[in-house]
Amino acid sequence: MTTAILDVRNVSKVFSRRRSTADDSGVRALDDVSFTLDQGGSTAIVGESGSGKSTLARIICGLETATVGQVLFQGAPRGAGRGRAARRQEARQIQMVFQDPYSSLDPRQSGHSCLDETLRVHTDRSARERRDIVAGLGEQVGLGEKELQATPRRLSGGQRQRLAIARALAVEPSVLILDEAVSALDVSVQAQILNLLVDLRRARGLSYLFVSHDLAVVRQISEHVIVMRKGAIVESGRTDDVLSNPKAPYTRLLRDSVPRRGWQPRRSSRPADPTDPLGRPQ
Ligand SMILES: Nc1ncnc2c1ncn2[C@@H]1O[C@H](COP(=O)(O)OP(=O)(O)O)[C@@H](O)[C@H]1O
Ligand SMILES: [Mg+2]
Repeated sequence: MTTAILDVRNVSKVFSRRRSTADDSGVRALDDVSFTLDQGGSTAIVGESGSGKSTLARIICGLETATVGQVLFQGAPRGAGRGRAARRQEARQIQMVFQDPYSSLDPRQSGHSCLDETLRVHTDRSARERRDIVAGLGEQVGLGEKELQATPRRLSGGQRQRLAIARALAVEPSVLILDEAVSALDVSVQAQILNLLVDLRRARGLSYLFVSHDLAVVRQISEHVIVMRKGAIVESGRTDDVLSNPKAPYTRLLRDSVPRRGWQPRRSSRPADPTDPLGRPQ
């Protein structure tokens, strides 16, 4: 039996409007959202812009608090850890990678120094151990010594995203949340990063929450999918089932409006069917 690493229970989120407004009903970004993520699993959250995907990701990561409901990590409520060390340990477990790593990377700091600092803050490793770990992380995400010495502005978009992934991995998380993490990249670079994620999941036993509006990408990387609309889950299940045979009209609409894509994971050697909107193998 697989155990849930994340258990999201009846989470709602209302953002209050500006105080000056008479209407205090607020924006209901999430409405009673529940789902579980299996240990080592890979679940995608899809839906149009404004459907609440990022808000849900941020609540799970601890960057935002739920108005109602709770998130359990390995069976215990998030934020229940007592003491600073316990809370720090808890915060490490779920890491997030954003669409634009440039805004979360210090433009004056080299990749090497960024990763070293992350290790210094979150672990008790010695300088020598950190140097070895940084080199190992670089190797894992495909950044060489030269790239690690460069500042983010000298890196390509794909390299910056590799650095952001390396930084997330540096603290050895159990769950990686990727919020539109490949959406801004060229298709070929996107394919490289997706392959990297597939490899990392296998090598590290990571669990993924993959937020995306791109169903072709979702089909390749996620075993399960959650379809969100206006803050609520309209449909969920195994990715193949949901996307091949959508029950909800909204899922059908999403599926039929995706651009054609041809990315193929390593496990499939067949070319994509150019007539298939999801880029499925022929
Ligand atoms: N900090 C915030 N304050 C007020 N409203 C917000 C805030 N963050 C998100 N929202 C609103 O919540 C809804 C869901 O947004 P978001 O989670 O970013 O959706 P998605 O990631 O699916 O595009 C939107 O209506 C958005 O305007
Ligand atoms: Mg978003």
